[in-house]
Amino acid sequence: MEVDRRGLLKAAVLLCGLLVVCSGREPSIKHHPSTTIYNSTLAKTLVEYASAIYTADLTQLFTWTCARCRDLVEGFEMIQIVVDVENCLQAYVGFASDINAVVVVFRGTQENSIQNWIEDLLWKQLDLDYPGMPEAMVHRGFYSAYHNTTLRDGVVNGIRKTRRLYGDVPIMITGHSMGGAMASFCALDLVANYGFDGVRLMTFGQPRIGNAAFASYFKRYLPHAIRVTHAHDIVPHLPPYFTFFPQKTYHHFPREVWVHNVGLGSLVYSVEQICDDSGEDPTCSRSVSGNSVLDHITYLGVSMHAEAPSSCRIIGNHATLRYEMDLRGNVIVMSRRRQHGLSDEQRHSVQ
Ligand SMILES: *[C@@H]1O[C@H](CO)[C@@H](O)[C@H](O)[C@H]1NC(C)=O
Ligand SMILES: *[C@@H]1O[C@H](CO)[C@@H](O)[C@H](O)[C@H]1NC(C)=O
Repeated sequence: MEVDRRGLLKAAVLLCGLLVVCSGREPSIKHHPSTTIYNSTLAKTLVEYASAIYTADLTQLFTWTCARCRDLVEGFEMIQIVVDVENCLQAYVGFASDINAVVVVFRGTQENSIQNWIEDLLWKQLDLDYPGMPEAMVHRGFYSAYHNTTLRDGVVNGIRKTRRLYGDVPIMITGHSMGGAMASFCALDLVANYGFDGVRLMTFGQPRIGNAAFASYFKRYLPHAIRVTHAHDIVPHLPPYFTFFPQKTYHHFPREVWVHNVGLGSLVYSVEQICDDSGEDPTCSRSVSGNSVLDHITYLGVSMHAEAPSSCRIIGNHATLRYEMDLRGNVIVMSRRRQHGLSDEQRHSVQ
């Protein structure tokens, strides 16, 4: 009798680990992983924020009137868009009242051919020692895209502005693809170097960014980080992981959540599989071949790619947006001229 019960319980726990929607009401399962580790509702919100940054027109993005912003219009206040024209990088910072958090989003690659960008990923070397973390190595290009451009200062200033206005609310960092790599470096930087509290990370279809030593530091600083992967998306498989030489190759930080379809015929349904805390769970996306670009550009049913092929240039209505340029004239930080819905005092502190 006891044994049977335990067996059933075990099956319930396994199921709960595999399926996000779990109605198991067994009192001894107080914190099953699906709700303590991964919040599916939050993922569906953040993926829309991550998608909005692919909007070509910055005025639409700033005023939150873009097509991709539609579902989230209510309760989002854009604080700052950071554009690094020279390196074709972009991020935005705002306050989302629905989840009561600062939302920070990094944009993925804008290169005309995503195929070329993906092919390049194969050859990315672990060529930079992560400062202050012995043995930790990362890819210099990914690291620099956040640390060595205008994005870092712009984002940190944006977070400080938002918290001055809305209090010490949590900071949600997100991004898709290359934007996920930058989001990861940002989240780690905010915790390890700036000492911010309440930092949370959820990325979509990001590549690997460092080695196993780096991943274990990462896990220590951001124990609740989530990397969502999708079906056969090729990007999370890159740069490659070599099982025969794990210390010297790229290694994902935990925790992956692999979204994929299971079943046959008319019984196909989507599963959000919570993976183990190794970062390289062989039963998750690594159990299939990463051979799809299509699976890379759709996450949780949301389209995740640039509207226009070459949107590195600035598109927007210059009269409504305030630009600040750096000395080289190619880096711009923007903030709105008028902040509606804010008092004069608040408006003053935004600018
Ligand atoms: C998941 O996120 C949603 C919205 O972000 C929130 O309302 C809800 O309370 C969260 N659920 C858990 C179990 O934390
Ligand atoms: C950052 O940029 C400077 C100047 O371009 C360069 O000398 C330095 O090596 C870069 N740092 C990294 C980590 O790539």
